[in-house]
Amino acid sequence: MRIVLVGGGVIGLSIAREFHKLGYETVILDKNKLGKGASWVAGGMLAPQSEGLKPGIFLDFCLESRNMYEKFAREIEIDTGMDVGYWKSGIFCPAFSIEEKEKLLSNLETYKNIGLSGKWIDRSDLENIYPSLGEDIIGGVLYPDDAQVDNRLLMEALTHYCNINNIKYYENTKVDSILTENGRFKAVKSGDLYVDGDICIICAGAWSGELADIPVFPIKGEMAAVDVKREDIDKVFFSSKAYLIPRKDYSRLVIGATEEKVGFKDGNTVKGTLQLLDGLLKTFPHMINRNLQELWFGYRPATPDLEPIIGESNIKGLYYATGHHRNGILLAPITAKVIVDLIHKNKKSKYLEAFSYERFNQ
Ligand code: GLY
Repeated sequence: MRIVLVGGGVIGLSIAREFHKLGYETVILDKNKLGKGASWVAGGMLAPQSEGLKPGIFLDFCLESRNMYEKFAREIEIDTGMDVGYWKSGIFCPAFSIEEKEKLLSNLETYKNIGLSGKWIDRSDLENIYPSLGEDIIGGVLYPDDAQVDNRLLMEALTHYCNINNIKYYENTKVDSILTENGRFKAVKSGDLYVDGDICIICAGAWSGELADIPVFPIKGEMAAVDVKREDIDKVFFSSKAYLIPRKDYSRLVIGATEEKVGFKDGNTVKGTLQLLDGLLKTFPHMINRNLQELWFGYRPATPDLEPIIGESNIKGLYYATGHHRNGILLAPITAKVIVDLIHKNKKSKYLEAFSYERFNQ
């Protein structure tokens, strides 16, 4: 049985790896270099609580994936011999005003009521750890179970997994259309190239809406990275101003991210860059003289309710695993599991109904 994956980001490559382990032939087509699309430009936070997700099936989905992550990361490291920078550092959410404190405390209470951990830390206690903390920070909430992975290392490792296991892929190959025959998936077409198969999964991120009749659209995010020292920061900081992600090896501090509905408009803007650097300096003013390493941008694959689209389409053999918005890196392990269980074992997870494309057709 041949599985055709349209999209070689974290979702596509995680699915390819699972299918490969089960002995399926998989073929991946990606419009960029493999692993160098939205998953490459992401932040890598594994942050359902810091994101402030409301209790419900989407939070459950994110928490289940967060719980899977350490094993997922370790197994990829064993498979490839490459470090993916998984770091359960915890994520700290600073409050810059009384209103923000109240909102953070209300989220904290909600999470405590459903058995999740977290604690408020006063500014006086923070000052012992971070002597140069921005003057407007009045305290914040620490979520010790939120974590991060270095998404670029992860994408390099997953690409290496494909290489060492002879998983076939076509790079810089934008799929133009999905071909069907008698209501069944038949092949994907890219220019003169036709790749046929038994199953096709659209995991093409923000471009998925161009390939199928599903409401997936881009939300642009601009990012930056600066030099960082161990003594600056020991965990991710995630505030209303910016998130600051020190990589486990302290090679850089990733700063994210703007959110703009501007289609596929490219480039880093002056406004976006100012917003990111302002977020950095409001949190750690002493970092003003650090070298800027990189500016970049990407497109989150959003849906109207900001939750993913996962499961079979109305065409037999054609599936979706897309629309992960701000949480694609986090949701890779659970998405791969749900979709592979469905196709391989006909096992229907409770998440399939919640994240069916059909919810948008009512
Ligand atoms: N996951 C963070 C972001 O989308 O900016």
